[in-house]
Amino acid sequence: MKPKSKSRNYRVAVIGGDGTGPEVIAEALKVLDAASRKDGFKLDLAHFDYGGERYLKTGKVLTDKEVTDLKKFDAILLGAVGHPDVKPGILEKGLLLKVRFDLEQYINLRPVKLYPGVWTPLRDKGPEDIDFIVVRENNEGLYVGEGRFLNKGKKNEIALQVSRNTRKGVERCVRYAFELTRRRNKRKKLTLCAKTNVLTYAHDLWWRVFNEVAGEYKDIRTDYAHVDATCMWMVKNPEWFDVIVTDNMFGDIITDLGAMIQGGMGIAAGGNLNPEGVSMFEPIGGSAPKYTGKNVINPLAAICAGGMMLEHLGETASAAGIEKAVMDVTATKLKSLAAGKMGYGTSRSWAPPAPSARRC
Ligand code: IPM
Ligand code: MN
Repeated sequence: MKPKSKSRNYRVAVIGGDGTGPEVIAEALKVLDAASRKDGFKLDLAHFDYGGERYLKTGKVLTDKEVTDLKKFDAILLGAVGHPDVKPGILEKGLLLKVRFDLEQYINLRPVKLYPGVWTPLRDKGPEDIDFIVVRENNEGLYVGEGRFLNKGKKNEIALQVSRNTRKGVERCVRYAFELTRRRNKRKKLTLCAKTNVLTYAHDLWWRVFNEVAGEYKDIRTDYAHVDATCMWMVKNPEWFDVIVTDNMFGDIITDLGAMIQGGMGIAAGGNLNPEGVSMFEPIGGSAPKYTGKNVINPLAAICAGGMMLEHLGETASAAGIEKAVMDVTATKLKSLAAGKMGYGTSRSWAPPAPSARRC
């Protein structure tokens, strides 16, 4: 969308990360390499070993200097974050959330699209019904880490966790969602997902900003659903959705549900966007450490993340080519995503996964 390079030469920081992250990214890089040769652009890759292993060796997760260095790239491709020997939260906050926050990647864009041939747990729904996109606010809400304990450890303990919502943060997110709905040019419908009946401060702000901005987009139909109802409609009538805009926490939750109805974590990709800066693309499935090196993790999510990266860099034809190739594969080469099994592996000599294999 907003390439830094005027030339078609893009500098990409690659962070394989933890667990199965590096192996799915390796497959994505093969696809990106083929796409760049076919479509005549160039990717200069710089690999970084950030993640659990490095943290265990050095005690460093991601320093401020390293974040500053990441700002020099045109985009970042990330595998996964999460290591069984590192206390939960350290890598997630110190790496993934730090990049999202410090690089002001204020949009988390998560398409929910069922590709042909991919199994969905929704019995009566097909690719024509499941094709929407979630715009998740990515820099605020409950994720700011603001809060405190009162009387910690005592019987009368209280834990506070603040959801911080600024007009600026909400407005830029909502505005992005309206623009995207227009650009997508599908059903031209934008749904605000919130909980205005309970979160009478935070989501009152969302509601007011949403309706104010809506006034500038007369061509877009607006809709509202409480988050609980959104979950219900995503299962019962996913075809009602075109674009959903929501806050950070709700976006986290509904996009896991979204990933499931589009065939599972093995196929779900997302982008952490700073439309004016450096964006980061990732498969959203996590590091699945116990499957590392076992060739059972579906690399399509990472491949799709690579496609989203190209789209963002302005290589739209190439991005469309990748998506088409993925759809050809799912439509013709795959029975094995059926019934929730993982299906593809990460090397060319694919073998069916053991029946016990499950994505976690
Ligand atoms: C995601 C993940 C992260 C989040 C975790 C790993 C911090 O669940 O990308 O959705 O909550 O945003
Ligand atoms: Mn999540």
